[in-house]
Amino acid sequence: MAKITISVIKADIGGWVGHSSIHPDLMDNARGSLEAAKKSGLLIDHCVTFCGDDLQLIMTHTFGVDSEKIHKVAWDAFTKATNEVSKKLKLYGAGQDLLSDAFSGNVRGMGPGTAEMEIDERTSEPILIFMADKTSAGSWNLPLYKMFVDPFNTAGLVIAPSLQKGFRFEVQDIREHKRIFFDCPEEIYSMLMFIGTPSRFTVKHVFSRQDDTIGAVTSTERLSLIAGKYVGKDDPVMIVRSQQNYPAVGEVLEPFRYPWIIEGWMRGSHYGPLMPVGQKDANPSRFDGPPRVICLGFQLADGKLVGPRDMFDDPSWDEARRDANVVADHLRRHGPFEPHRLPLEEMEYTSLPQIMEKLKGRWEKF
Ligand code: F6R
Ligand code: MG
Ligand code: MG
Repeated sequence: MAKITISVIKADIGGWVGHSSIHPDLMDNARGSLEAAKKSGLLIDHCVTFCGDDLQLIMTHTFGVDSEKIHKVAWDAFTKATNEVSKKLKLYGAGQDLLSDAFSGNVRGMGPGTAEMEIDERTSEPILIFMADKTSAGSWNLPLYKMFVDPFNTAGLVIAPSLQKGFRFEVQDIREHKRIFFDCPEEIYSMLMFIGTPSRFTVKHVFSRQDDTIGAVTSTERLSLIAGKYVGKDDPVMIVRSQQNYPAVGEVLEPFRYPWIIEGWMRGSHYGPLMPVGQKDANPSRFDGPPRVICLGFQLADGKLVGPRDMFDDPSWDEARRDANVVADHLRRHGPFEPHRLPLEEMEYTSLPQIMEKLKGRWEKF
C-alpha cells in the first residue's frame, strides 16, 4: 500500500468573539473546500475542527510532506473562508495569519502552522492530534519529553521491550535555523539544556530507535520571526503515533495531567498553565485564556480518519483542569510583573519597541 501522509495545517483567520473561538460558518466553509478536494482525488479524508481562534485542517493523502498540491488546498480553503465568511461576518482579525497575498508553493513561512508526517500505515494505526490555543511554538517540548523519555510517565519504557531502545529527538534552534539530533535516554542531560528553553529550541520530530520510524511531529512556526513584528501567537499542533513501538494512548495523554506553564495567554505576553479540555471547552475566555489543549484521536484505515474521539472529554482530566485554574489564579495576581508577564527579551516583538522609542530621549546617565 502507498505511504499515507497526515497533514495538520492551521491558521487564525478570524475569531468569534474576539480571539475566543471559531464561528460555525467558518468551519462549514472550510469543510466544503476540503470535501471538494476529496472529491477531486487530492485528499483521502479530512476533519475540520478548531481550538480557540484557530481553524484546524486535518487531512490525509498520498502526496508526502510539504506537497505543493496539499498546501494549496489548505491555503485556498483559508483564503476562501476569510473572504466568504470572516470578512462578511466581520470576524475578529479576518485573515490574520495569512501573511501574504499570493500562494508561493508552500504555506510554511506564510503564516499558517503545519505538522505533517508520512508513514507506512500499520495493521492498526492509532494517532493522536493535539491542538493548542493561547500558547506558543515549543509548548510540546515538556509533554514530548515526558511521553517518550520519562519512565515515571511512560511505563512501557520499563515494561515493554519494543520501547527499550528509546527514541531520537530532532531539536530545532528556531532563531539560528539549525537542528541537532539527540539519542535518548543516553543524551537526555545535554538535550534538556536546550529544550528547557522552548522559546528558542523546539522539538520538531521524535523517531523510534527500534525501527527508525517517525513517532511525533510538531509545528514550529514563529509568526513574529516571519513577519518581523508581533502578529499573534503561534498556536502549535502536534501529531503523535501510538501503541506498539510508540507509547500507548494513555501514556501519550498522561503528560497533560499537570498544567505546565507555557508562554502565550493574554496578548501572547504572559506565562500561563496549559489546560487540557474537551472540544466543547476549547473557547478560552478568562483573560483570553488560560491556554487550552485539545486532543482528537483517530484510527487510520487506508488513510481514512476513523474518528474523531475527543480524548480530553473525560472526567479523569477534571483535576488537571482544577489545578490549571488554581495556577491561573496565582499567576494572575502578579498582574504586569514577571514571572506572569514574559521577560523583556521575549516581548521584543510586542509593544516594547514602540515604548522604548517613545522614551528614548528621557533616559539620563546617573
Ligand atoms: C493572544 C490573543 C489575545 C490578543 C488580545 C489583544 O494570543 O490572541 O490575547 O492578543 O485579545 O488582541 P488585539 O491586539 O487584536 O486587540
Ligand atoms: Mg485571533
Ligand atoms: Mg490562537
